[in-house]
Amino acid sequence: MSEQQSQPSNMNTSGATVNGHSNGSNGNGVQAVSQASPQPINPFAPRYAQIVGWGYHVPEKVITNFDLEKIVDTQDEWIRTRTGIEERHVVASPSETSATLGIQAAKAALEVADIHPSKVDLIICATSSPEHIVPSTASIIQDGLGATNAGAFDLSAACSGFVYALSMARGHILAGDAEYVLVIGAETLSRIVDWTDRATCVLFGDGAGAVLVAASDVPGGITASVLGSDGSGADLLTVPAGGSAMPSSLETVSSGGHYIKMDGTAVFRFATRVMAEATRQVLGKAGLRVEDVDLVIPHQANVRIIQNSVLKQLKIPEEKVFVNLQKYGNTSTASIPIALCEAIEAGKIHPGNNLVFVGFGAGLTWGACSIKWSVPVAKPNETWWRNTARQATYQAAAARSMWKRAIRRVYSQFPAESRWGGRKEENELS
Ligand code: ACO
Repeated sequence: MSEQQSQPSNMNTSGATVNGHSNGSNGNGVQAVSQASPQPINPFAPRYAQIVGWGYHVPEKVITNFDLEKIVDTQDEWIRTRTGIEERHVVASPSETSATLGIQAAKAALEVADIHPSKVDLIICATSSPEHIVPSTASIIQDGLGATNAGAFDLSAACSGFVYALSMARGHILAGDAEYVLVIGAETLSRIVDWTDRATCVLFGDGAGAVLVAASDVPGGITASVLGSDGSGADLLTVPAGGSAMPSSLETVSSGGHYIKMDGTAVFRFATRVMAEATRQVLGKAGLRVEDVDLVIPHQANVRIIQNSVLKQLKIPEEKVFVNLQKYGNTSTASIPIALCEAIEAGKIHPGNNLVFVGFGAGLTWGACSIKWSVPVAKPNETWWRNTARQATYQAAAARSMWKRAIRRVYSQFPAESRWGGRKEENELS
């Protein structure tokens, strides 16, 4: 596994200003309204949801179109011209999962923001390939980070999941329920793809991306969102088995019911329509015109969908649309945050820019967020002691988690109602 981190923002704590507002302790120049929780919320104070940290992580193993030619009846030329994809990253060992990729991406986002995991109030993991049906991948990520004060849940909206999760994060922050929300898109789609089905296996890839959303008094941030769903198209893109409608059985396994099934052409038509519509709607809500947009970061499924929707229908020029699907394929919920990180690395995002994130996916679902980018994106001023402190934090989190598991094993020997039930001691650990 190679950790690939976005070019993070500055790590300065010097009290620089962002859009005329003073910087607090946040390394990213945007001060959380309150960092000590719980704090009474002043309902009259202006409150904004700013993206202050970002990061991504993809597995090391790469499968090119030429590699796929050896597995299924396909050609590099077909894949490139019909989708734009050239290669994708996939997990190589059982120790790599959606949660482990998500943890790496989340660590990178926290590092950019220079925020300790214990400050995070909520973790939302959007995923189409969760670790389990129960528990949530978000809870496993929470434990891996040592985010001991965070609530955690998974969000299921397929490839639209990251935009949905960002909208939820904004809502929690504007309502005053959270100061820091970690939004993660994490996928190991290679585990639910049928590697004998050329219509789907060439499309998908694995990876994770994360952003840290912070409460701020700096105007801007996530300014509007639009979410949509049309469940009449539920059968167009589905993993039929493994849920309550078709529980796992020998038959569901032998018939391939646990793999992604898709009507690609129908999804293509739907995607082309909703990407343009959702972008228009979110811009309308944000009080912006199409010409005001500096960069669109669309869900990275197929370059033809992006061309037909964002470029042709909205007439947004190519240089204002970020595309990196040639390297990763469709990483579902991870595609937009990975693209965001790479757009920052490529110097395409600056404070004051108007961004649109727009996605679509199974459900059918779609969504868009409008963002007034407000934080600096300069390289971090990394120091050895900061790095050491961070590693120590994560080692302590791992040790703490092991200790809690060990304690529970001991207490499991006693009846729950006995004086050795362990509730007091467990509470002390939390
Ligand atoms: N290699 C070679 N030939 C192929 C392949 C392949 N990998 N896949 C399909 N073909 C063939 C088909 O069999 C068909 O052959 P035929 O004409 O002899 O029957 C021909 O290519 C054309 O197939 P179409 O399906 O019409 O090709 P299309 O141009 O529509 O492209 C694609 C297919 C790439 C799947 C496209 O429809 C698409 O991108 N759809 C959207 C899919 C998507 O984005 N899904 C993710 C949604 S997000 C989420 O929630 C996970």
